[in-house]
Amino acid sequence: MSVAASFSPALGSFFSLSRSPSRFRMTLQSNSVSVTATVSPLLTKLKRDCATPLPVLEEVADAMSAQMRSGLALDAPTQLPMIPTYVQNLPTGNEKGLFYALDLGGTNFRVLRVQLGGKEERVIATEFEQGPIPQHLMFGTTEELFDFIASGLAKFAEKESDKFHLPPGRTREIGFTFSFPVKQTSIDSGTLIKWTKGFAISGTEGRDVVACLNEALKRQGLNMRVSALVNDTVGTLAGAEYWDNDVMVAVILGTGTNACYVEQINAIPKLQGHVFPSGRMIISTEWGAFSTSLPLTEFDEEMDAASINPGEQIFEKTISGMYLGEIVRRALLKMAQVGGLFGKSVPQKLTMPFTLRTPDLCAMQQDNSVDLQAVGSILYDRTGVESNLSARKIVLEVCDTVIKRGGRLAGAGIVGILQKMEEDSKGIIFGKRTVVAVDGGLYENYPHYRAYLQDSVTELLGLEKSNNVVIQHSKDGSGIGAALLAASNSMYKHQF
Ligand code: BGC
Repeated sequence: MSVAASFSPALGSFFSLSRSPSRFRMTLQSNSVSVTATVSPLLTKLKRDCATPLPVLEEVADAMSAQMRSGLALDAPTQLPMIPTYVQNLPTGNEKGLFYALDLGGTNFRVLRVQLGGKEERVIATEFEQGPIPQHLMFGTTEELFDFIASGLAKFAEKESDKFHLPPGRTREIGFTFSFPVKQTSIDSGTLIKWTKGFAISGTEGRDVVACLNEALKRQGLNMRVSALVNDTVGTLAGAEYWDNDVMVAVILGTGTNACYVEQINAIPKLQGHVFPSGRMIISTEWGAFSTSLPLTEFDEEMDAASINPGEQIFEKTISGMYLGEIVRRALLKMAQVGGLFGKSVPQKLTMPFTLRTPDLCAMQQDNSVDLQAVGSILYDRTGVESNLSARKIVLEVCDTVIKRGGRLAGAGIVGILQKMEEDSKGIIFGKRTVVAVDGGLYENYPHYRAYLQDSVTELLGLEKSNNVVIQHSKDGSGIGAALLAASNSMYKHQF
């Protein structure tokens, strides 16, 4: 049913880095005893600073609920933006026709088309292409970025096969997934609040991203129309709920992070005075901006200070894929400099930001060999360090400490949302089966992180309640979800 191709097979996705163990030199240090002694106080401090026992998780979950309320109450800057998405109704299943979706995430860009067949046939055919967003575009101009998107779409649209049908005279409609904080002004317009995930394109903030895309489509000579602008969490919620009506919350844990959920209009004071017939709206929490009660370390603080958005997106910087490798690198660097973890000298590469990436941590944590050969090899390839067995064991403990904190805090965030929803409408969450749809490369590819997240949800809710809360991976749902929302908001929808 689906055909997948890639713009650029040479550059893999977030979690498909290739590595070559053959480049690893087998020279090992022999100072294992002294290393353990000098490094162990540093490791103990790291573990203490990252600890997430139940009371810390409870505090984080409660603070998340409280911050959600503050964000809903005022249309002024608060910690959580709590963005009304103008999505009032989730897809019903009746959607029919050909729709496109464009997805600009943190690492990849993806285009997709889907032929929807209504209640009976559901998804008749789908095709997609995806590729990495070239690094230079993250620091270029708004026009360069949107031209890249529009030209990717134009090339993809040319290859439409006869599995896809559009009645004569109709314009192709797009669901545009734009995975950055946007102040929505309607279902098909919204201005960028700020870039996240390392993007630093000047001049886009404050502009309507749909207008930017429309101008680029025009430059490509493409006659297509954006009928829904959605955050990736919203696309995921719509895509997952299409198959399972118990989905109430969607979370992205990838390069960046965010969560959205269905809120009652009467619980959104900042929307009072407007009429929304359905009585509900999806709220994009932008929880990456959350920062209360988090257990942080000196490495988080240094990384934040050196980032392009210091003081912002602290939750994101503590739990998401873009940053976990960098936190570990900073901790290892200190252990190397102060405790001689890797011998007398510190390789230059280890001092370079972002040389160690989250997928590397994941690959290291999956090394079950006696001598931790893969750990040594990855460390050498990425950071230039030569390690003995005791150093490798310490590296694994550092990885585990940072991943455990990330997964457990993400779980506490989820419970914070569920708790808030339940407090407002008794029985809506805990009286029945409730599904939290999760997508993103970090969640999908990092089993340890996933397990820590689940542990934290179970610890916080207790066995009985957590048995009814299903944390479910919703793979690539956001593309189909965006296309479904384009269909629900189609200008031809009365003709379905
Ligand atoms: C953005 C969100 C997005 C999330 C996941 C964050 O950096 O602010 O809008 O949903 O990443 O992609």
